[in-house]
Amino acid sequence: MKVDVILGLQWGDEGKGKIVDYLAPNYDIVARFQGGPNAGHTLKFDGKKFVLHTVPSGIFRSDLLNLIGNGVVIDPVTLEREIKGLEANNIDYKDRLLVARKAHLILPTHRYLDAASEAAKGKEKIGSTLKGIGPTYMDKTGRNGLRVGDIDLPDFQEKYDALKEKHLGLLKQYPDVDFDLAGEEKKWFDSLKTLRALKAVDGEYWLNDQMKAGKRVLAEGAQGSMLDIDFGTYPFVTSSNTVTAGVCNGLGIAPSKIGEVIGITKAYCTRVGGGPFPTELFDADGEFLRKEGAEFGATTGRPRRCGWIDLPQLRYTIMLNGVTQLVLTKIDVLNKFAEIKAATAYNVNGEESRNLPYDLCMDGIEPVYRTYTAWQQDVPAEKGFDGMPQTAKDYIIELEKELETPITMISVGPEREALIKC
Ligand code: GDP
Ligand code: IMO
Ligand code: MG
Repeated sequence: MKVDVILGLQWGDEGKGKIVDYLAPNYDIVARFQGGPNAGHTLKFDGKKFVLHTVPSGIFRSDLLNLIGNGVVIDPVTLEREIKGLEANNIDYKDRLLVARKAHLILPTHRYLDAASEAAKGKEKIGSTLKGIGPTYMDKTGRNGLRVGDIDLPDFQEKYDALKEKHLGLLKQYPDVDFDLAGEEKKWFDSLKTLRALKAVDGEYWLNDQMKAGKRVLAEGAQGSMLDIDFGTYPFVTSSNTVTAGVCNGLGIAPSKIGEVIGITKAYCTRVGGGPFPTELFDADGEFLRKEGAEFGATTGRPRRCGWIDLPQLRYTIMLNGVTQLVLTKIDVLNKFAEIKAATAYNVNGEESRNLPYDLCMDGIEPVYRTYTAWQQDVPAEKGFDGMPQTAKDYIIELEKELETPITMISVGPEREALIKC
């Protein structure tokens, strides 16, 4: 069996959680392959709303197993909080939530370093979620990190203390930030009890064995391709590979085992935090998108920056990921517009290009827009694709042509069932 992948094609928050939850019944296992509690994946069903940060979005489907893969960085305190939320809602997760032993741990001092490093950057700050993501991945690649499998080793406390001391040394180079280290450490060590109670596995063996036994696996991405450490808008990115290639490293899956790649994009575009966003709107349309789309961060509550959909950007991330099908989300947010826009190319110093320039921060870069007549009415899921207004159908067909990829689903609301299959 091959692993299908769901990932975001923009700067995150495309609606990955909703689509993973919707498609999960077609699978036996959902596995998160990168990122950590910087993610906020929102699920809405039966009148309830859940936001998941570390736990995979298949957890509410009772027959499914859910793996937190080796590529994920785990803050046991956040994980414990999420698990308490599941318990409070009588979700039986005990034998269904597994964690890879090789996943790295976010220590309290990683969060401390994240805050201090951002403070030192001043105006140039990345706008990190301050969850300790960057410093934890730095320790992973720097070969200093602590992993889930380490917590049961006899020298775990020594390893922890050594890493903490290293961090305290580094912190001396940064401006002072408010941080109650003793309090945070106590919470962290207390929360290890919950982590220890989960089933820890050698994720790569476990997953490959499951696949050999015919189990169907869905890999769930976090963030978006434009936040990828290699291909995103560096340095305004996260610290992991958010693209399909990250599935191989983040789960221990061979490239030949990748199946369908389902890329999620909003019908417009958002970004939270710093960094370039060429189609960003600073006018009433941008404000309208933010209000109508409830564009406030699921992890930090920050207002999201809003703008038009960017087709060169999407062509780029479709190429990087090998996307085989597209899901267009939040099309309902455009219902009241008379006209909508899409960037179809870039003007780079007077020359038109369908590619993304090296650095989106450079001067002399302008998106080239096309304007489309919009539908100005609701798009109810019950009516299906054939029942959609003709202008909406035309727009979708045009996007498929421009992006050379089929759109297989259209999301028309936050709820699980608000979805049109094409
Ligand atoms: P994720 O990080 O990709 O899982 O996305 P988030 O959960 O951070 O942000 C997506 C937001 O849009 C959440 O509040 C969802 O409930 C909501 N959402 C998802 N799909 C739709 C949709 O089709 N229409 C509307 N209006 N909201 C949606
Ligand atoms: P989901 O999975 C949107 C952004 C941050 C910041 C940059 C680096 O919900 O789509 P980090 O905390 O990783 O050091 O932050 O990346 N960012 C996200 N933006 N959705 C996310 O996740 C994000 N995770 C990180 O705002 O600009
Ligand atoms: Mg999110």
